[in-house]
Amino acid sequence: MKTVLLIHGPNLNALGRRDTNHYGTLTLPALVRYASSVAKKLGIRLVSFQSNHEGALIDFMQKRSAKASGIIVNAGALTHYSYALHDAILDAGLPTVEVHLSDISKREAWRRKSAISPACIKSISGKKEKGYEEALEVLARVMRKK
Ligand code: DQA
Repeated sequence: MKTVLLIHGPNLNALGRRDTNHYGTLTLPALVRYASSVAKKLGIRLVSFQSNHEGALIDFMQKRSAKASGIIVNAGALTHYSYALHDAILDAGLPTVEVHLSDISKREAWRRKSAISPACIKSISGKKEKGYEEALEVLARVMRKK
């Protein structure tokens, strides 16, 4: 069974209490459960990690990527300025899909740019939890070819 790292950045531990118009109503544990059940059907094992700290996200990637086959990352606001995260994704050398619950292309100007998208094979935004399902399907397809 292939392993995919599911990584969430700052403030995503507060899902459920954040603006539900943008982020939906699921809490992070519920979102992870949903993604894990989709993953199971695709024969993928998800390993989930959330941190409010950029360095902890990078440490996790450095530690866990050797035994994984793909990454799904919702980096929260770090998306928009973390070149360190961009480099960590590149260094992991794994197919990575960027996911956002909200449609970052239709929000404030500063959210429209992603510093990590050049390191990702796909960016999915504005589909709430369904974006995670799509990301898993993309990775399942890519991993089948390997
Ligand atoms: C987000 C979008 C980011 O701009 C924001 O800072 C978040 C969540 C999303 O899932 O839509 O925390 O990544």
